[in-house]
Amino acid sequence: MPKVTFKNSKETIETAQGSLLKDAVRENGWPIAFGCEDGVCGTCIIQVHNGKENLAPVQETEEQTLEMMCMKDGEHRLCCQCKVNGDVEFEGM
Ligand code: FES
Repeated sequence: MPKVTFKNSKETIETAQGSLLKDAVRENGWPIAFGCEDGVCGTCIIQVHNGKENLAPVQETEEQTLEMMCMKDGEHRLCCQCKVNGDVEFEGM
């Protein structure tokens, strides 16, 4: 099972392959705020430190939102849009 590390609290948990990162965040009480949960509002922005390639690729809506926020740099993602396919280490903003 993929390991997910939340750098802010230095916690690592295991989650199911293909699960949503936002579910792991909620289940563990990690302090990331969500708004639309559709990749539009940008509230749930995170910085991915390791394992970017282990998250499902950015889709059009998320890409547009990141671009509007000037955060389309390959390191930032919208947590509500991320599916976990392997080990990931990230930080809440
Ligand atoms: S909650 Fe709105 S983009 Fe994630």
